[in-house]
Amino acid sequence: MTSAALPAELAAALARKSHGLSLGDAAARAAAMSKTYRGGGGSTAIRSEADALAYALARMPATYAAVMACLDALAAQRPDFTPRGLLDCGAGPGTASWAAAERLETLRSFALLDANAALRALAIDLMQGSARLTAASYTQGDALTLLAKAEPADLVIASYMINELSDQQRDAFADLAWGKTTDTLLIVEPGTPTGHARVLALRSRLIAQGARVVAPCPHDGGCPLTAPDWCHFTQRLPRSRAHQHLKGAELAYEDEKFSYVALTRAALQPRPSRVLAQPLTTKIAVTAKLCTAAGLDIAVAPRRNKPDYARFKKLDWGNTV
Ligand SMILES: C[S@@+](CC[C@H](N)C(=O)[O-])C[C@H]1O[C@@H](n2cnc3c(N)ncnc32)[C@H](O)[C@@H]1O
Repeated sequence: MTSAALPAELAAALARKSHGLSLGDAAARAAAMSKTYRGGGGSTAIRSEADALAYALARMPATYAAVMACLDALAAQRPDFTPRGLLDCGAGPGTASWAAAERLETLRSFALLDANAALRALAIDLMQGSARLTAASYTQGDALTLLAKAEPADLVIASYMINELSDQQRDAFADLAWGKTTDTLLIVEPGTPTGHARVLALRSRLIAQGARVVAPCPHDGGCPLTAPDWCHFTQRLPRSRAHQHLKGAELAYEDEKFSYVALTRAALQPRPSRVLAQPLTTKIAVTAKLCTAAGLDIAVAPRRNKPDYARFKKLDWGNTV
């Protein structure tokens, strides 16, 4: 498992940008943006350099950690995946590009696109601090228009982005993004029931076009979960003091909930079952909720079966079995 903390170069670039910043002002901006997001307003509330920085300070650590967890799951399933090019759609402050640069050493080209001018300006500034990302290209405009003209890439990512599209735009985006994916498309969304529903709709649409699921599902069939249950995962990340202050939080960590799907054109090995919640450990047994190729399974490893009990005790939410 890769570290969930921001890479040192990015943390340093954010610290440099934040020098002399009023944390109170940034916290007020982050709170206002969060309110707009909850009201369905998306990133349109980010209009100035100060807004963009407040957004990055408040949210980048968590979305970075979520994308890293997804890339870990993808790499565990596809150790042979050696992408050369990344297309980061709705790149915002560049979060997914930083994560991909950190996790995937073979990446050579990074193409970012986003509609938001303030986030683009911040991303370009932050990327000056990265040896890998200084040569990245970042185009401003609507993703649907830009994607139609974009160069295909081995890895296409849309992280916390499709929730800002209408249903109709999302379908068009899915088709365009898949059309530009030569190997793998990764979609990450907030780990809410609606986030999962959006991931699921895109997943079904693209499976019908020949995509196969790399992770998290061990199959390409329908999701076995039924409402009010939903498929999501959680990633713990450290909070810096500034991050704590900005979020008005007491704890030195936070748990980011996310839903995701990684879809590929590549041939896949049989996919292992995945743990869908934190396993329950008692003195008698470990019980784990699993998504298997045959559907949902509540697997029990009794203490008397020592090897299974020991193996299950090490399992975490999101692991494969
Ligand atoms: C919540 S931010 C996520 C940013 C980044 N991907 C991350 O994970 O931190 C959503 C981003 O999607 C961009 N976005 C939303 N709709 C878009 C569209 N139609 N075309 C281009 N960018 C869009 C927004 O401008 C914003 O930067």
